[in-house]
Amino acid sequence: MLEQNIEGIDFFLDLQPKLENFKDAVIQGLGHDRKYVPPKFFYDTEGSELFDQICETQEYYVTRTEIALISAIGSDLQSLIGLNSSIIEYGCGSSLKIRALLSTLISPSEYFAIDISKSHLIKTVREIAKDYPSLRVGGVCADFSEKIVLDQPKGPSLINRLGFFPGSTIGNQTPDLARILLERMSATLGSNGQLLIGVDTKKDADLLNQAYNDKLGYTAKFNLNLLTRIKRELQADFDVTNFEHRAFYNENEGRIEMHLNSKEAQDIVIDDVKFSFKKGESIHTESSYKYTEGEFSNLLSQSGFSLVKSWSDPAELFRIYLAKVK
Ligand code: AVJ
Repeated sequence: MLEQNIEGIDFFLDLQPKLENFKDAVIQGLGHDRKYVPPKFFYDTEGSELFDQICETQEYYVTRTEIALISAIGSDLQSLIGLNSSIIEYGCGSSLKIRALLSTLISPSEYFAIDISKSHLIKTVREIAKDYPSLRVGGVCADFSEKIVLDQPKGPSLINRLGFFPGSTIGNQTPDLARILLERMSATLGSNGQLLIGVDTKKDADLLNQAYNDKLGYTAKFNLNLLTRIKRELQADFDVTNFEHRAFYNENEGRIEMHLNSKEAQDIVIDDVKFSFKKGESIHTESSYKYTEGEFSNLLSQSGFSLVKSWSDPAELFRIYLAKVK
């Protein structure tokens, strides 16, 4: 049975997502001529804590700007979204953003979160259920980049669905993959469904470069923690200090790139496979695409949505889009 009873919440569905194997992904990525490791592997316990610390740095404007923006546009959201919405959040991070949205909307009926990590998901939705007693709350354990059908009788209502995808997480995908992900969301949300999505803006390269090179060094630690994780979990024997954090805005691609640069020529062995690094060669660990209002509106309209309205803070650091399924 995929539907389960979990104490403290109203609905739980385990779609049993395939958990990508860390070792296979690292061996595959480092075997490429341009070495890479997918960014989802940043978020072990330590990495998630470091990400929270990045969000507190003066340079990383993303999180605080988005939370303030959600509150600032509250009355607009209220009138455009209406009453009794069934909120479906893609990924449940630290839950600060959903709390900002829940306190902005006067009477949402339901909140469902989709997340790949079952334990994290259960913990987060239980806390929301406890703090918002009149809300129906549920969890769906799934990989949200896959097709997700939610048509169970006790699952999210088929009307008034509002997808919520904050944090500019969409920017971690190339625009082609972002389009596929948005198309899948439009299918899940169904006709009359809406999507509220937060996206980082194209802006002055200095500001972007600073946001990913904070002075206290949390972003560097976050990036380098991936190597600590490789050493610990894959029993690789190398010196993490032979690598350094590098992040820069690639103007042509419209994205921040994060890399781990090898300071020296070195070989690393993982599971009997040898990977040779030249001096200065890097592992590409993350891309974070930035969008102008026009670019992202186009992406939405190519993915089964039509734009309802978008908002940004006065300095245009961040933009939130409300779109409805076509
Ligand atoms: C959570 C993926 C949106 O790309 O800005 C922050 C991750 N990486 N600093 C981003 C991140 C380095 C963040 N996202």
